[in-house]
Amino acid sequence: MVSVNVTSRLLILGGTSEARSLAERLDGRAGCDVVSSLAGRVASPLMPVGQVRVGGFGGASGLASWIDAHGIRAVIDATHPFAAQISRNAAAAAAASHVPLLALRRRAWVPSEGDRWHEVTSLEDAALILPELGCRHFLTVGRQGVSAFADVAGAWFLVRAVDPPAGRTPRQMELLLDRGPYSRDAELALMRDRKIDTLITKNSGGDGTAAKLIGARELDLPVVMVRRPATPAGVPEVADVSGAAEWVDAQIR
Ligand SMILES: NC(=O)c1ccc[n+]([C@@H]2O[C@H](COP(=O)([O-])OP(=O)(O)OC[C@H]3O[C@@H](n4cnc5c(N)ncnc54)[C@H](OP(=O)(O)O)[C@@H]3O)[C@@H](O)[C@H]2O)c1
Repeated sequence: MVSVNVTSRLLILGGTSEARSLAERLDGRAGCDVVSSLAGRVASPLMPVGQVRVGGFGGASGLASWIDAHGIRAVIDATHPFAAQISRNAAAAAAASHVPLLALRRRAWVPSEGDRWHEVTSLEDAALILPELGCRHFLTVGRQGVSAFADVAGAWFLVRAVDPPAGRTPRQMELLLDRGPYSRDAELALMRDRKIDTLITKNSGGDGTAAKLIGARELDLPVVMVRRPATPAGVPEVADVSGAAEWVDAQIR
């Protein structure tokens, strides 16, 4: 009898803690050869275990060519819920290359009793409503989003990001370079110390950065919550790493 070892190459589009956990879960699994992809935006990214490639593919067609050239059998889009372009590219490329695609997307946060959320659909809309809510803002929308707040008049910002913002920034601001996870106690202390009266965040979801929402609730602060962008239609979705690992098992079986 001849036994044949068939190894499936999988591509994880990453840049999130879920993508790293999935790479770790699949690392060394029989029949599985995993490559993680990072955009290369963060100066010192947290690296997934296993093979990693860094940098853009050159749009949907570039990604499709990469999938074909590297014999990828399935793609898991485990990018951040606000990384809408790469998710659209993944959907188009997977269709063009005839490979299955799964979206691993953590659940969105939902308001709890006592929360004072103002939901908006863009960073620009968030900036517009700030003057009616307060003047000392805790801005946690990622470094790429800071420029949308550069023209808010008469306001002070505590900007927290992993790397310094690119582009224009508010005139009055303090920059705090930090990376989660954060605890409730630390978030409360930070917001109290800086006399924060408004929190601005994208609805990223997940546990790692949710403590700021608890802090805002306990301090009775308004939260400007930017809604998630639409996800590509027809792409199956799971909310956790176990669900993604089960999907992978089904693909390589
Ligand atoms: N947006 C956020 O709030 C946020 C937060 C935390 C982490 N991240 C992570 O940061 C990365 C960039 O996010 P973004 O919002 O700038 O993305 P995006 O706007 O959706 O994508 C812009 C371009 O960046 C490249 N790209 C994005 N993710 C990539 C990946 N995993 N591997 C290779 N190329 C990638 C692609 O370039 P080409 O067209 O050249 O292929 C894509 O067209 C993602 O990996 C995401 O998971 C984003």
